[in-house]
Order: sequence, then structure tokens, then C-alpha cells
Amino acid sequence: MRTPIMAGNWKMHKTIGEAVELAQGIQAATVHLAGAEIVLCPPFTAISAVAEAVAGSQIKVGAQNMHWEKQGAFTGEVSPLMLANLCQYVILGHSERRQHFAETDAGVNQKVKAALVHHLRPIVCCGENLAQNEAGETAEVVGGQVRAALAGLTPEQVAQVVIAYEPVWAIGSGKAAEPAAVNSIIGLNIRGVIAEMFGEGTAQTVRIQYGGSVKLDNSDAFMVQPNIDGALVGGASLTVGSFLPLIESAARHG
Ligand code: PGA
Repeated sequence: MRTPIMAGNWKMHKTIGEAVELAQGIQAATVHLAGAEIVLCPPFTAISAVAEAVAGSQIKVGAQNMHWEKQGAFTGEVSPLMLANLCQYVILGHSERRQHFAETDAGVNQKVKAALVHHLRPIVCCGENLAQNEAGETAEVVGGQVRAALAGLTPEQVAQVVIAYEPVWAIGSGKAAEPAAVNSIIGLNIRGVIAEMFGEGTAQTVRIQYGGSVKLDNSDAFMVQPNIDGALVGGASLTVGSFLPLIESAARHG
């Protein structure tokens, strides 16, 4: 059984004070909740304060990116060593990083390996853009991103990884993908690829989220799908009122 994982990607939102307030609100509202893992991913500046705010609770904390080197002359970057004692997860290869910061499949693979060495669990993002979707290239694009991101890992390492399937056209657009179609892409082109690479047993243990305009009125439809193990949520993770029902939705279907 895979425990669903509901992760909030706060992107470039929230000052330290705002982040702590939101984290405290989510913590207070989920004290008695069971059946879903909750991960909050604030900007780097607020990770420490959020980690402190949720210490001792079931809530986990994640970063939104990191460099693959432990240290060095990389102005503006944050290393896995710096995150290792601060948080448990790290989002890697988000489409906004691929699109605006020129991240490549090879770079994402280096980051995934570095995260695992430092006992950080990667949430690896993949997903086709609109042109690729319309050209019927979804399977090839998503399968290729997954193959590249997981290349060279052991099955034991892959079991620590979470994958987030996020069609680029669904992110922040208010137009979520179709749940049954997502279930099939995840089954064939993500879980199927992991099975080819690492065996069926490993493929069945890896948690795979959907991301892209998940909100109250569509969350259940995604969470009931057998291949979807939670969601990576942007916009709707920014208030307690909009994120709590999504956590509850994941927990109901856990
Ligand atoms: P969204 O973002 O929920 O605002 O569409 C999802 C994401 O980018 O992870």
C-alpha cells in the first residue's frame, strides 16, 4: 500500500512571517488527520522557520530546488548538505525550472543522485507542454524524462523517490488534466517505465502524484484513481482553507 502524499509547492510566495502562519494553520488543522503524508515546500528563506513551526508534528518540509554539489563557487545556489538537516524532501526538475532556468534532464539526474546521498527524498517533476501534448508526444516526453531522471539509481534508491506528473499546460491554468487520462499515463509511461528499469516490485512502491490546477472540486476525482498517490499543489496550497480539503481528500482515498 502506498500512502498518498499531498505536497504544497509555495513557489515564490510567502515571507517568513506569512510562511510560519500558514504552516501553523495547517498543522493545527491536521493534528488528528491520518492516512496522508503532508509536505510543505516554502521558499528557501522560510524553510528553517517552517521546520521549527511544525517540529514534532506529522508535517514534513521540502525545498523547491537545490544544486547537486555539496559546496563551491556557485553564487546564489543552495546545496544538499545545507538542506539535509533542515527538511526531508526536495522538489527537483519542476517545469518552471526547466522552462525559465534551463534545467536539463541530465542536471535533474545529478540532483536526484545528490539528494539521495544526503537522505533527502526527491519529488521529481515530469510532464509534457501543450505543443508536445497536441502533437501526441506525451508518452515519449514523459517516459524520456523519467528514464533520464532515474538513470543510474538502485531499486532501493528509486523506492525513496516520489514522481510528480505535471502536464505543463495544466499548471496554474485552472484547466486540470482529465483524471482517467492521467491515471493511464502514470500507469503506462511512468510506473511502466520504472518497472522496465527497476522491476515491477519497485514500480509498485514508488508514489506518483498528479499536479496541475488541483483544487477542491477536482481533487477527489484524481485521488480515487488507482495509480495516483496524491498531488503536488501550487495555487491551492497557499491558504489553509484551500489546502486542507485537498489533504483530507488524499487521506480519504489512502
Ligand atoms: P498549480 O501548480 O496547482 O498552481 O497548478 C502546480 C505546480 O506547479 O506544482
